Amino acid sequence: MTARVSKSLYIKTYGCQMNVYDSDRMAEALAAHGYNRVDTAETADLVILNTCHIREKAAEKVYSELGRLRRLRDRREAEGQSGMLLAVAGCVAQAEGEAMLERAAFVDVVVGPQAYHRLPELLARRAREQGGQIDTDFPVESKFDELPRQVESSPVSAFLTVQEGCDKFCSFCVVPYTRGAEVSRPAAAVLAEARQLVAAGAREITLLGQNVNGYHGDGPDGRTWSLGRLVRALAEVDGLARIRYTTSHPRDMDEELIRAHGEVPQLMPFLHLPVQSGSDSVLEAMNRKYTAADFLRIVEKLRGQRPDMALSSDFIVGFPGESDEDFAATMRLVEQVGFALSFSFKYSPRPGTPGATMRKQVHEDTKSARLATLQATLDAQARAFNEATVGRVLPVLLERAGRHAGQLVGRTPYLQGVHVEGRGHAIGDLVQVRIDACYPHSLSGTVLEPDPGEEIAA
Ligand code: 5AD
Ligand code: SF4
Repeated sequence: MTARVSKSLYIKTYGCQMNVYDSDRMAEALAAHGYNRVDTAETADLVILNTCHIREKAAEKVYSELGRLRRLRDRREAEGQSGMLLAVAGCVAQAEGEAMLERAAFVDVVVGPQAYHRLPELLARRAREQGGQIDTDFPVESKFDELPRQVESSPVSAFLTVQEGCDKFCSFCVVPYTRGAEVSRPAAAVLAEARQLVAAGAREITLLGQNVNGYHGDGPDGRTWSLGRLVRALAEVDGLARIRYTTSHPRDMDEELIRAHGEVPQLMPFLHLPVQSGSDSVLEAMNRKYTAADFLRIVEKLRGQRPDMALSSDFIVGFPGESDEDFAATMRLVEQVGFALSFSFKYSPRPGTPGATMRKQVHEDTKSARLATLQATLDAQARAFNEATVGRVLPVLLERAGRHAGQLVGRTPYLQGVHVEGRGHAIGDLVQVRIDACYPHSLSGTVLEPDPGEEIAA
């Protein structure tokens, strides 16, 4: 028998929650090969950069981080310490492919998001052979079949990937090129993973997908299940108090899913629904395939189901051809909807996407001015939303310890972070909290003691 040598693994994760989920799965796959996860690169035997390509200069940032890690590795070797393997994963790895091994020959492994299950093998091959290893294929077999989840304990709020990739080809976006075509996991596999997470302590699950509401997985009944159907089945999982999903496309907000918001109490009244622009001509040029009126109708229907529905969104300003009038239409839409939280970006041309070669690119100064105007309004809306919760009593799921002794941090149904004094309560408890104050990034409140036997709604 050979003793298993313990090695250390540091993963630096950039970008979206799908990458956070993927990093955890990579760590689990590598744990079976003796790797323990640590939170610094300083002495790690293996460092993985799990990268994001969605906005500008992503590749350059990765190359400069790689340069820093290479210097760290050289210094360690000069001091006679153990070496370090260096792997690049995620969407920059996918987009750069061979070019990365040419430009940074000191990288050991380059692995795309669909090939993570081959990571242990790639590392072993790297140890045997000269030259960096690369795997950026979109294989036929699913990485999900190969990366069984090993959950001994899971966070109170867990992520679960149900869908990957995107076929929508918005003209600004690299995702269809880096993550490949839309694929949905079978519903039975999702439900099994959800039960496993709940058994290990999760009380909230956020379903993840680049286009999560485009979910169309094989159902156990032989039919294709939509996300609305999947949500209903998840609501049957005992002990699961809250369900969320992200990120959605307005085009895929079908009736079944909208109805689920009214009928499934576990489904939280908070939705991230990127609109990108309020101008029909910009939306058309973006290939979003809906109008501002379509978006407003969806919001109206959602609020018809759940009057307290809160929305967050993504916006891009300065898309090619965006005029002052187009931008004014975005501002109008923002005023009409009233967002609880938002993310807004200046358009950045991504090589290989149609937007990058469109004429009438918007000047950088105009983009900056529009972004400042938009963000001022969105920030004011977010503040107003948070302030409006002061004095209310909301169900809060306690998720982790706070900074001070005895303090716990949880979330409201609207995803707001709330600090409370723990006093007899534990992580994982769902408690009623009176919101006392509102700060720039969180709320604070007081836990109300429940009446004996009272059921607390999620
Ligand atoms: N330029 C600016 N923002 C972008 N996003 C995606 N691609 C670009 C780009 N080329 C934004 C969109 C998307 C979010 C995740 O990132 O708003 O919804
Ligand atoms: Fe990108 Fe559009 Fe697909 Fe979202 S829907 S991942 S923005 S191409």
